[in-house]
Amino acid sequence: MNISINGISDQLKNEIRDAALNARSHRGAMLSADQREFYREKIKKLLIERDAVLVVHYYVDSELQILAEETGGCVSDSLEMARFGYEHPASTVVVAGVKFMGETAKILSPEKKILLVEDDANCSLDLGCPAEQFSAFCDQHPDREVIVYANTSAAVKARADWVATSSIALKLIQHLHDQGKKVLWAPDKYLGDYVQRQTGADMLMWDAACVVHEEFKADALEALKKQLPDAKVLVHPESPADVIALADAVGSTSQLIQAAKDLGAKKYIVATEMGIYHKMKQVAGDDIELMPAPTAGEGATCESCANCPWMKMNDLEKMADVLENGGNEILIDENIRQQAEVSLKRMVEFGKKVGVTGRSSH
Ligand code: 13P
Ligand code: SF4
Repeated sequence: MNISINGISDQLKNEIRDAALNARSHRGAMLSADQREFYREKIKKLLIERDAVLVVHYYVDSELQILAEETGGCVSDSLEMARFGYEHPASTVVVAGVKFMGETAKILSPEKKILLVEDDANCSLDLGCPAEQFSAFCDQHPDREVIVYANTSAAVKARADWVATSSIALKLIQHLHDQGKKVLWAPDKYLGDYVQRQTGADMLMWDAACVVHEEFKADALEALKKQLPDAKVLVHPESPADVIALADAVGSTSQLIQAAKDLGAKKYIVATEMGIYHKMKQVAGDDIELMPAPTAGEGATCESCANCPWMKMNDLEKMADVLENGGNEILIDENIRQQAEVSLKRMVEFGKKVGVTGRSSH
């Protein structure tokens, strides 16, 4: 089958790396127990006053996940975040995650006020797929169905026929392949490669990667597996192919949480962001042992160490601030929003049809 990769420039790769390092130096504040309690109470009060609900990704600090659940909000993967914000009656949705998650909520719910806890929380995949360059690439391949990962800007989604999250990418591309369609996939080359190998679809790829998952290393993981023969390996498909090849389960964040429960092991090596441990333990049992998959060979340093620098910018203080002052509101050009809504809603409807939700059963 035909796989070809459209390269992004070294300059853009360097800019993304710099942005990640910059984000890492603006990590959420470490608060004392009294400060945490103060902000928790303040947020609870403001949520009622502002008719607002919290929508939180599994990768953000567990404190924010706990608060979202205590206040009737949502903690989930990116597919369920989109669906929940859309269906919830609150007039304001506060998103703790990264920018594309806030934009997705706004695309689906234009009448709602969508506030992002951290305005600078980006994603290397989104940054690695500039809309103009991407659109020119699509123009060169009019014979292909354009599918973009949810981790993209509203303008990139507007250029696509479909959006897909990692929960749904496999089923969606299988479906299109079964209909004889050729695919243009962007931006995550590893997820694209994984889906291509699973489905045999004819896929043309963009060349971006997640700075967190790209760092997991197969040789070190193989050595760790030998040391821990009882441990099962859980891998997000944004990881390189040789890491995926060592997995006992491959899937989106919600699918990995479910796998931690279903596989029934007591020890897991986890190749995804460490924020997920909170929900994994909640769902699969507090007594399971979780450890990060190695991000480098012996003696080397890693850039992210299984921590997303942008997800980790979210904190209680910033959440209280946006609720109080209405800052970081997501606004999208209406033309772009309407076009992006078409491709996003197709994904949501397809998800309902094939029974894929973005939540583990808990
Ligand atoms: P999920 O859709 O699996 O939650 O993934 C989002 C993400 O950013 C993974 O790095
Ligand atoms: Fe983006 Fe990777 Fe962070 Fe997910 S973990 S938000 S893909 S940079």
